[in-house]
Amino acid sequence: MFRVSALVGLLFCSSVFAQPALQEKLKAVQADPAAMKAAVEAGRKASFFCANCHGEEGISKTPDVPNLAGQNAAYLLEQIRKFGAGERKDAFMQGLIKVLKDDERLQISAFYASAKVPPSRADAALAQRGKALFDKLCVRCHGEQARGGELFPRLAGQKVPYLQTSITRYRDGTGIRNNQLMSIATSTLKNDDIVAIANYLTQLP
Ligand code: HEC
Ligand code: HEC
Repeated sequence: MFRVSALVGLLFCSSVFAQPALQEKLKAVQADPAAMKAAVEAGRKASFFCANCHGEEGISKTPDVPNLAGQNAAYLLEQIRKFGAGERKDAFMQGLIKVLKDDERLQISAFYASAKVPPSRADAALAQRGKALFDKLCVRCHGEQARGGELFPRLAGQKVPYLQTSITRYRDGTGIRNNQLMSIATSTLKNDDIVAIANYLTQLP
């Protein structure tokens, strides 16, 4: 039984993630409370340098640096891979990530995913307009409460400036970050719409 499900898991992953073995290892760790506890502790130590920008508990200290707290672990691991491979571009991140070993990447992802992210304040009128847009254009992938999943990042509680920048980059196809699903989903958004959506998302618990 175990073998069959492990194989199915591996096949599923290999079609979705570029690093199936490491993603599979992460799943195994998440399924084992003792292993998860050890990974979170190791991740806390391994992320000491990341804390300079992303904060001790994954709540970032600067507006354009994303919160990592509460983000899905599989998504974090995949983004770390993308920075390392140069598929996602950021001068600081690409250099920092390159020196991390696979196990450290896994541990750091487990650590941040297990941290809590508090909702931020937002403009209520903008948030209401943003909710209507989100429910129409984004909810089917990012989920009712924007909490995401393995393939779709959590957006709830994320910083407004980072959300704005990321959404705009996907829409405009700047090459800093590419994703076809996101380009299509954002293609009709005006700049004002993006501000409204960001205000909605940041105040979600
Ligand atoms: C000098 C500041 C800085 C440091 C130090 C730093 N980061 Fe980042 N990180 C950023 C910025 C800025 C971004 C957003 C890049 C962008 O706009 O795409 C980012 C993005 C990320 C993302 C993507 C988050 C998402 O929601 O998609 C991950 C994952 C990440 N960093 C992990 C790390 C890890 C792990 C470390 C430590 C090894 C680290 N960062 C250290 C500035 C930093
Ligand atoms: C068809 C599925 C789909 C739809 C619909 C969709 N997204 Fe996404 N979104 C994704 C995927 C997949 C990613 C991760 C892409 C990557 O790896 O860069 C993503 C990433 C993002 C990110 C980056 C988050 C981070 O932590 O860096 C933001 C912000 C975002 N989406 C906002 C939206 C908004 C706003 C809408 C609606 C206008 C939307 N998405 C609709 C699939 C979708």
